[in-house]
Amino acid sequence: MSQFPPLKNDLLLRTLRGETVERPPCWIMRQAGRYLPEYKEVKGDRDFFTMCRTPEIACELTIQPVRRYKGLIDAAIIFSDILVIPQALGMTVEMIEGQGPHFPHPLRTTEDVQRVLEYDADVTVSLAWAFEAIALTRQKLQGEVPLFGFCGGPWTLLVYMCEGGGSRLFRFAKQLINEKPELAKLLLQKITDVAVDFLARQVQAGAQVLQVFESWGGELSAMDFDEFSLPFLQQIAQRVPLRLKELGITDDIPIIVFAKGSWYALDRLCAIEGFAGVSIDWSWDPHAAVAVNQGRVALQGNIDPGVIYGSDEVIEKKVKFMVDAFGGGKRNYIVNFGHGTHPFMDTEKIRFFLEMCHKYGSA
Ligand code: CP3
Repeated sequence: MSQFPPLKNDLLLRTLRGETVERPPCWIMRQAGRYLPEYKEVKGDRDFFTMCRTPEIACELTIQPVRRYKGLIDAAIIFSDILVIPQALGMTVEMIEGQGPHFPHPLRTTEDVQRVLEYDADVTVSLAWAFEAIALTRQKLQGEVPLFGFCGGPWTLLVYMCEGGGSRLFRFAKQLINEKPELAKLLLQKITDVAVDFLARQVQAGAQVLQVFESWGGELSAMDFDEFSLPFLQQIAQRVPLRLKELGITDDIPIIVFAKGSWYALDRLCAIEGFAGVSIDWSWDPHAAVAVNQGRVALQGNIDPGVIYGSDEVIEKKVKFMVDAFGGGKRNYIVNFGHGTHPFMDTEKIRFFLEMCHKYGSA
């Protein structure tokens, strides 16, 4: 890893190691994206996945928020998408302007699932562009902040692969886990195997920290989460370090898990050895989450991104509440939203939000 410039801001990494820090590190889910005028400028008529697969563009888009909010943001996250794993499993995924992801051939029959199970996935070939983008970005960041690699949680990816896009009822994914639970688990296992290799190889390429986005966790009951999500998240936590060793990497790479909506699983997620951080959405009162965590991991979150539509007074009040409720932020705490930015957000309001996080986090 020594071919890269030395890291100048290791606040996030120190926090994830459980150290006491001078203020909580800050970053924002979907900090690169359509709320940034400079993103829209690069995007123009370009296709989303073509941008992901073009290392120079992915690098530029990753760095844009770090450049704009210089000194206020403590991590970069590689510009890509969770749906590149279904692509690595042989599925076609398109991003339709103004609508979101679309799979022309979603998994609907046993034969459809069988085809994925038999697919010989090799991320070093199909996702080679991702590793190039990470290496280039790590170089270009000049050690300014650490770089996140990421992937989707197995259950969330199963949802997209079965539904073929966004969903309200989750009919096909729920049909699979309830009608053919054993087949569902084989699919989750296949996704997990690819996810483990993909995460480890992102580290090999230059990622310094990892996040797993189980964005549809909350669509599962607590009982189903324990069967169809948690065991696979647990495998990711346990197997990524082993895979890294196989690749000759001995560094301890922290992993954060974000199971949106799965409030019932917080205790069990904090208990998983191998996750250094657990990201929580805004349904938690931070005081209660801190009490559940008992200092086992760094908690990340959790303000409702909607706060950005509020006045400066409202933003300041809610940031102060959040930072105080997470114990002042000097330990086991990473500032983030409870979910991603919206395309309609005002960049200067986000700046004010970050400034307030620094103000109260340093107090
Ligand atoms: O700054 C960053 O966070 C880095 C890049 C990133 C993107 N997607 C870029 C993106 C990351 C980490 C993701 C993760 C992702 N992708 C998740 C997990 C996080 C979450 O929001 O729960 C999910 C569920 C996806 C799938 C996905 N990608 C959807 C549902 C959509 C359409 C909705 C939307 O926001 O447009 C995308 C598209 C997408 N991914 C965009 C970006 C910047 C918008 C593309 C565009 O129209 O320009």
